[in-house]
Amino acid sequence: MEDIEICHCNGIMKSEIVKAIKEKGLKTVEEVQDETEAGTVCGGCIPDIEDILSEING
Ligand code: FES
Repeated sequence: MEDIEICHCNGIMKSEIVKAIKEKGLKTVEEVQDETEAGTVCGGCIPDIEDILSEING
């Protein structure tokens, strides 16, 4: 999988978000925000977080 920076405000990479979702069974953007801090500043990356969540959880 190509690793890209998803959250530019906090410098969070896709791999970190994927790992948190898989390891902790995250289901919502809010849970990803709590675990990784991605999406907690401008919110511009939230659609990308939603895409990653549905990629993993279906
Ligand atoms: S890019 Fe993720 S909160 Fe701004």
